[in-house]
Amino acid sequence: MKVLLVGSGGREHAIAWKLAQSPRISKLFCAPGNAGTAETAQNIPIPAEDIHSLLDFAKKEKIDFTIIGPEAPLVLGVVDLFTQNGLRIFGPTKAAAQLEGSKIFMKQMLVKASVPTAQYHTFTALAPALAHLDTAQFPLVVKADGLAAGKGVLVTADKKEAADFISASMSQKMFGESGEKIIIEQFLDGEEASYIVASDGQRFVPLASAQDHKRAFDGDNGPNTGGMGAYSPAPVVTPELEQKIKETIITPLIDTMRREGAEFRGFLYAGIMVVKGEPLVLEFNARLGDPETQPLLFRYQGDLLDLLEASAAGDVSKIKLEWKNDVAVCIVIASGGYPGEFKKGFPIEGLGSCSGNSFVFHAGTKLDGGRVVTAGGRVLGVTASAPTIKEATKLAYECAAKIKFTGMAYRKDIAHRAISRSSKPA
Ligand code: AMP
Ligand code: GLY
Repeated sequence: MKVLLVGSGGREHAIAWKLAQSPRISKLFCAPGNAGTAETAQNIPIPAEDIHSLLDFAKKEKIDFTIIGPEAPLVLGVVDLFTQNGLRIFGPTKAAAQLEGSKIFMKQMLVKASVPTAQYHTFTALAPALAHLDTAQFPLVVKADGLAAGKGVLVTADKKEAADFISASMSQKMFGESGEKIIIEQFLDGEEASYIVASDGQRFVPLASAQDHKRAFDGDNGPNTGGMGAYSPAPVVTPELEQKIKETIITPLIDTMRREGAEFRGFLYAGIMVVKGEPLVLEFNARLGDPETQPLLFRYQGDLLDLLEASAAGDVSKIKLEWKNDVAVCIVIASGGYPGEFKKGFPIEGLGSCSGNSFVFHAGTKLDGGRVVTAGGRVLGVTASAPTIKEATKLAYECAAKIKFTGMAYRKDIAHRAISRSSKPA
């Protein structure tokens, strides 16, 4: 069958790499893709947000199934558009994708579903938001309501910093419309965990656990990013915690979404803070995580297409996922300056030099006259697997050391928490 994959990040290269192993796919297109997806799919120069051109392409090429990687087209309603035109597509509808597209909507759903989350206040005007800071407890967290490419959240103990961020968001429109409304929420002190399931609207299949590193610099310092590395499984998600997450978060949320007329089919990604052993929701994403997808799909056994089609068709009850026992680790190599300003267009050397159980997923790359050059903030996701987290991390770093481009930057301590947990006596 003919499949169209939408997106251009490391997540999409990992999905394309996995789909290329499916015997049922005769032709895979990727829109717009990157230099990595070009190796296994035919890249089509349509931006992920141009949902009408995607529809035209899918009709013209008689695409049998479309898979959406990133959040932006979901929030714009690509799934509704394709479905209205009789085309099969994987991902949540516009209404369901609001779980990621609006933090206020997400919080409302959590309250309706009685799911534990940080206490919060919603603000639609600047003056009351600033006034709230006079009585609020610090540290606190300010969040732009809409999509802001991972930059719309400030965690701070400093009142002036909070006020500046709120003004930049609501008044100077630093995040455009996305930041006109904000929430201010209670700071939760704990350990972060991610939990991803594939839902068919009623039931769900959990993926293996995975964890990312959000901060730019070693020691989990510096600004928040989309993710500088990830690993799977994540020892923080113990069987007891997983049970609590399923019972107190995923099940009530999926039930509530259906009751509210926003049935959620697709990947549901819960960002969780574990406080004194109890999971509280920080955020939901309506898609797979990037870079969590890279180590997850490295461990995934079986045909990914089976899962995606079952979710889209509304019945995952027959799906049984299997995962390799090996641990997988992904190290993101970024452009110097990311998540701030950075330059693009630098040739990348050493891409062919990793082999065996390591693989270089592309993210912000493109082909420039036959050469692979940098084209984004997060450039590559070097991924490796091995029987232990220590060995997998060593392998991934050995591979990363072979890659060179001007200004490249990566963290040297990916998986440090999981490694220290694994070396502690049980
Ligand atoms: P979010 O996009 O809501 O997940 O926020 C991005 C990051 O900000 C999270 O991964 C956390 O590291 C941090 N964060 C968000 N909300 C809170 C909170 N209530 N307490 C502590 N940290 C938070
Ligand atoms: N790595 C976090 C995310 O994909 O949102």
